Amino acid sequence: MRKVKKRKLSYKKTLRLLITLLIIVIVLINKNNLITLYQSKKTGYNFNTINVFHELGIYDDIKKEAYSTTLENIIVTEYYNPNYLTNYLDINYQEDKDFYENINKLITLGYTSKEINDIYKKLNHESIKILIDNDYLKDISNILDLSYFHEDNLKRYLTYNKEKKLNYENLITYVNANLDYKYYTNVIDIENPEDTSVIVNKYHKLASSFVPSDLETISDKCSRGVNRKMRHIAKVAFEEMCEAAKKDGITIYSGSAYRSYDYQLGLYNRYVAAYGFDEAETFSARAGYSEHQTGLATDILNARIDYISASDAEYTWLINNSYKYGFHLRYPKGKENITGYMYEEWHFRYLGTKIATELHNLDITYDEYVARNSNLK
Ligand code: DAL
Ligand code: ZN
Repeated sequence: MRKVKKRKLSYKKTLRLLITLLIIVIVLINKNNLITLYQSKKTGYNFNTINVFHELGIYDDIKKEAYSTTLENIIVTEYYNPNYLTNYLDINYQEDKDFYENINKLITLGYTSKEINDIYKKLNHESIKILIDNDYLKDISNILDLSYFHEDNLKRYLTYNKEKKLNYENLITYVNANLDYKYYTNVIDIENPEDTSVIVNKYHKLASSFVPSDLETISDKCSRGVNRKMRHIAKVAFEEMCEAAKKDGITIYSGSAYRSYDYQLGLYNRYVAAYGFDEAETFSARAGYSEHQTGLATDILNARIDYISASDAEYTWLINNSYKYGFHLRYPKGKENITGYMYEEWHFRYLGTKIATELHNLDITYDEYVARNSNLK
């Protein structure tokens, strides 16, 4: 009898033990769930994401950081790259096609999270694809902030950046100025030839029929030679400048001002015949591409009736004063690759005092100025 009772007791005991164990297991499972729920509430991530963090062993790193929608979303995709974890934390999430793939590629190229955020803030989907297909573009955030950054030119900026080592402002300016194109290619027909701010260069062409409507002859006191006309506003300004120079003991003359299309054609052809094509191209505009046809430019002579040179007192006076009368040295030294012409100490262009003063202060060419103020195009 005793033996049977004992066996019965042991059976009951086992059962109780099993039930207790079961309860402990259930409590333990719930306890983990409770912890996960707590961690989810605390960090902002979904319950399942917290479990993924634990599986990957990164929960302790993440709990210290601010919530990231990008991380929450990418971590459950095939695009999640553990090496880029810190980048994901700082990249603002975008509802954009290929977002995960794109940010991985941008990170791989070397873009920082801040740069990627700026890229997504400022560029459209197609432009982001273009960025991805190219090398890292240094200073991208500064570039995107430039008032003269043109998204349409992005591919050209990237290509030119590979060819030239320029600072980012020059890179954007030069491409805007078309300097990534060969001279006399991608030429734009000028639509505002009578605007005093008109840009005429190797990419902007005047119609062969264009003749300014208000040409006037510069006074004998202030001009020499056969081409003595300028547009009214430029003629008045030139005479004022000439008189002011005289008061300072400096004698200047306009030596070659307005030149018609046909005159320029003959001049250019004579230069090519005399100096050869390559050399002529460095100092003579082809017909239709000369500022002289606008009636707003003149080649200035010194007191000896020679074209001004840098060592002349007349040159120094003009550099220090011409902007006050609206004139600008159009082809300066060191800017030959921008203007497309050799240093011409004598060629001055009337642009009005506002622009001429800005150019004087900024020490830039008119080509660069236009490239940074596209409304002047
Ligand atoms: N010498 C200047 C560039 C012209 O021919 O217009
Ligand atoms: Zn000239």
